[in-house]
Amino acid sequence: MKLEQFLNEAKKKGWLKIIDEPLDVNLEIPHVAYVEVKKPDSKILLFTNPVDRAKNRKYDIPVLMNSFANFEVAEFIFAKHPDEIAKEIDEIIHLKPPESLTEKLSSLSKLFKLKNVFPKRSKKQGSCQEIKYLGENADLDIIPILKTWPKDVGKFITAGQVYTKSLDGKYQNLGLYRIQKLSKNKLIMHWQVHKDGNHFFHEYKKAGKKMPVAIAIGGDPLYFWCGQAPLPPNLFELLLYGFIRNENPKLVKCLTNDIYVPEDVDIVIEGEVDPENFAPEGPFGDHTGYYTPVEDFPVLDVKAITMKKNPVYMATVVGKPPVEDKYMGWATERIFLPLLKTTTPDLVDYHMPENGCFHNLLIAKIKPLYKGHAKQIMHAFWGVGQMSFLRNAVFVNEDAPSLTDYENLAKYILNRITEKSFLITEGIVDQLDHSSYEPLVGGKFGIDSTGKVVEKNINVLNDNELLEKAKEIDEDITDLKQFFTDTANPITVIKVNKTKPVKEVFKKLKQLKQHLRIVIFVDDYMNDLNNPYMLVWRITGNFDPLHDVWIEEIWGLDATAKNEKDGYFRKWPEDVFCDKGVIETLKNKKIIDVDDGFLRKFQIVEFGD
Ligand SMILES: Cc1cc2nc3c(=O)[nH]c(=O)nc-3n(C[C@H](O)[C@H](O)[C@H](O)COP(=O)(O)O)c2cc1C
Repeated sequence: MKLEQFLNEAKKKGWLKIIDEPLDVNLEIPHVAYVEVKKPDSKILLFTNPVDRAKNRKYDIPVLMNSFANFEVAEFIFAKHPDEIAKEIDEIIHLKPPESLTEKLSSLSKLFKLKNVFPKRSKKQGSCQEIKYLGENADLDIIPILKTWPKDVGKFITAGQVYTKSLDGKYQNLGLYRIQKLSKNKLIMHWQVHKDGNHFFHEYKKAGKKMPVAIAIGGDPLYFWCGQAPLPPNLFELLLYGFIRNENPKLVKCLTNDIYVPEDVDIVIEGEVDPENFAPEGPFGDHTGYYTPVEDFPVLDVKAITMKKNPVYMATVVGKPPVEDKYMGWATERIFLPLLKTTTPDLVDYHMPENGCFHNLLIAKIKPLYKGHAKQIMHAFWGVGQMSFLRNAVFVNEDAPSLTDYENLAKYILNRITEKSFLITEGIVDQLDHSSYEPLVGGKFGIDSTGKVVEKNINVLNDNELLEKAKEIDEDITDLKQFFTDTANPITVIKVNKTKPVKEVFKKLKQLKQHLRIVIFVDDYMNDLNNPYMLVWRITGNFDPLHDVWIEEIWGLDATAKNEKDGYFRKWPEDVFCDKGVIETLKNKKIIDVDDGFLRKFQIVEFGD
């Protein structure tokens, strides 16, 4: 699908909001998109007059944001429900020798479809090469690259499809990484250590050779999705594009190197990475909802910029959930189910809620066939591909409520866990993860709730009574709320104004063991006990099971910000917040129309109380 087609259709269906008011690429445009994407039926946004007021610059290229605006739009981009795509993949995986003529024809039609997955290389000029800026003329300042957050170091390309190839030229890769603009012709490539783009980079580094790279922006929004698809190494993500579209992706060669890109993208930045040239990247407010720390990443020298005659600059905004990756991640989750089942056949279904930032929480339904089966699947998940970034995994039996019926699912789980249900181990974690006590590795927490219902044997008090007793025991405690008190293992979330390690508070609280089972500690700052959606985000992202989970007479989990007193010697990251002044200006201009309740609910700006 051409981007023009997508936008025309979006306009017809009322999914597109066009904003003609001149808005700044620094904070204003991203703040509008960040607020919009949190609405349940959020719109695709096209900003026709981007400006950079500080630089007195007006851009000719409009900015497109929130392309995956909601479930309906996402389904339109895929042209069908992602479950249907999963079904087609499943059929290919399980193709068996046909026994009748009808079966033969059916198998043939499925196999025939595969002829369309392979990218085709064209010798012609692509429409993405209608305008060419070469050498010195290739100036990134003509592109309305955005600065998303007040404390970001600068501007970042956030929807760049990064095309690379292996040193021997045999394999191509497409990965989606944020890219920091360093100057008019230099960028920093944020391919993280576990990613295929980075593996290719290391081949070039070892050989002492410069690495050709192409960053494509725009075109069919499905390219953008393919960039984040966690395919195994050496499988070019555009094969998946061909499979989903049932149409060979058409590629053209870049002008200054031999990387191939889709011919119909809007903008292509061609360049070369010198494997000896690194620069500090960040800070950048990421999809964890926190600023990620500064780390060195390789620098790309821009050699050429090409574009369509009337290009659009596509960008996305990340931050606290929900953001656009809610809808992209939903499709990924559905489409990858049959692939996951190839290694874990007794997996029935799984779900990664966006407020668990995907890799911080997975809930899976399985068909347990033997003792320890859930734990076997946990190890499988933690051991392979990008699923190994997963932190916390909860397993339920086939008869459990739907995986998105959170209320009943939580009750089901809490009624089935004992000390024996937990598995804590260590593995790799996402490079952005801040809760580990050291970078890249950390604890994994598995909960097996596939067993029988257990007996309830605690005496539940009301919140006020319990709070009074808890406050008497420790002054750090400021508030609490109990959840699921009608289950065998109620959860008490306790707010603390931390003056010492939480473990000390936890030890003292054991005095109340007849009234407590699961105790989760959060900071007093920016946590609302009546907002479970954001509590799940905060809690699942803020604890390392190796250090912060205590299975004793009561079960404790420390989801507070850590410091040296806790034995945590990294720098705990700051929350991302929109600039209050910018939000006020946008409200006054009637560009955004949300009230304080909305801003508070999603912690969009910082509140003093
Ligand atoms: C909006 C968005 C931004 C992302 N930014 C990065 C990034 O900066 N660095 C990174 O390594 N992965 C990032 N990812 C995740 C990768 O796109 C994803 O892991 C992908 O599968 C990597 O591809 P590769 O393993 O082929 O290199 C991002 C994903 C999304 C949806």
